[in-house]
Amino acid sequence: MADQLYDFGLIGLGVMGRNLLLNMADHGFAVLGYNRSPQKVTDLESEMVPGTTIKGTSDLALMVKELKTPRRIMLLVQAGKPVDAVLDELIPLLDKGDIIIDGGNSHYTDTNRRTRTLQEKGFHFMGVGVSGGEEGARRGPSIMPGGDREAYPHVQPMLEAVSAKVNGEPCVAYLGNGAAGHYVKMVHNGIEYGIMQLISEVYDVLHRGYGLSNSELHEVFREWNEGQLQSFLVEITRDILKKKDDKTGKDLVDVILDKAGSKGTGKWTSQDAMDLGISIPTIDVAVSMRSLSAIKAERVEAAAIYNSNTKVSGADKDELIEQARQALLFGTLISYAQGLALLHEASREYNLEIPLPQVVKIWRGGCIIRSTLLEDYYKAYTANPSLPNILLDAGIAGLVKSCEAKTRSFLATAVSAGIPVSGLSVSLGYFDAYRSATMPTNLIQAQRDFFGAHTFQRTDEEGIFHAHWQ
Ligand code: 6PG
Repeated sequence: MADQLYDFGLIGLGVMGRNLLLNMADHGFAVLGYNRSPQKVTDLESEMVPGTTIKGTSDLALMVKELKTPRRIMLLVQAGKPVDAVLDELIPLLDKGDIIIDGGNSHYTDTNRRTRTLQEKGFHFMGVGVSGGEEGARRGPSIMPGGDREAYPHVQPMLEAVSAKVNGEPCVAYLGNGAAGHYVKMVHNGIEYGIMQLISEVYDVLHRGYGLSNSELHEVFREWNEGQLQSFLVEITRDILKKKDDKTGKDLVDVILDKAGSKGTGKWTSQDAMDLGISIPTIDVAVSMRSLSAIKAERVEAAAIYNSNTKVSGADKDELIEQARQALLFGTLISYAQGLALLHEASREYNLEIPLPQVVKIWRGGCIIRSTLLEDYYKAYTANPSLPNILLDAGIAGLVKSCEAKTRSFLATAVSAGIPVSGLSVSLGYFDAYRSATMPTNLIQAQRDFFGAHTFQRTDEEGIFHAHWQ
């Protein structure tokens, strides 16, 4: 097939890249994959489905030569320097007007920089978030494109074909200017961190605190996944809890070391929210707890000093499980609310023009934070696309109120037992502060003015004031 002109090229044949390419080929596109390592090329070709058109190569110039113009090339390589290294190699081989898509988890400021430099050189560049892990890439991810509007129609049919579908609608939509796609993906990951932290906390209270076995918890999560909590993360937790270790025959979850890794997107979400002055404490805590988890040796030492029994005693089993369910629902609602409030503000501040109804619509399928709740958000944002916070929507408020009381009871139990529930606690704290018409920050203003003459405003008069405190 020497003269075949291919529709699409993909650079980076790790498992995500390989799966996405196989997915494109399933949908009738002729695709080319490049990887420097010949082994990765062989891996791709060994998985090729008969009747589809896929070719792998370790020759970048050959790949460029065999693509239809304007060329459409996606990079799925590790974020950071590797993206720049590939671009440096690729750009001299391309023609003006070619379209380059970065489908990795790049930091949005890198995407802004690359957009500028590539635009100056006459290329189209799009930062595109892709979520759904390995399976999503193969069977249908949620895709978050942003950037070059002119280039989008050239890649739209392909992205729509390979994306997940909900009610027949593709989980992909143009999400705004510049680095909007990567910004939305970053916040998606921040929400992902928050919900994962919350799930781990309810698991801890029910397992370590109350003593439910993994197989009992498997049943609990199975039931939860059939109701309001139905979501990808609850579903995989259900499955994790029944998985046996091949080596020991024990429950696999029990032999996994309690140190969490991270690649940075959660931290970036928190950092940017801090810069924008947006409160996202559930996500902040999720990042922070991963950091605390990493200092295992220190925790072991502290456990010997502060020995606590972490046992929940005297609770009614069914009631505790129901409280846990409602607390998880409550925290999940708050996690989304914080992430979406950040997107609202970032869109305004950075002029990204992110359409929030579209964001929640394409998160309904394919991505890691897909859940039935997104249908409710979609309704809310369709009715009012400029909501600053989803908690102001009457429908969402009804849901939050319905699980508030049991969340408080669950937290009281966990806190008395000394089980760390920082994610759930700050979710409730955030809610209590957000719905407070008055906060005690008048006192903070007084203190600031007392020691630093930082001035204050008054409740009864316009203007800026300073008092002589002593
Ligand atoms: C996704 C995931 C994906 C990746 C995370 C993991 O949407 O498919 O979010 O992008 O699994 O980046 O992040 P950590 O390694 O930081 O947990």
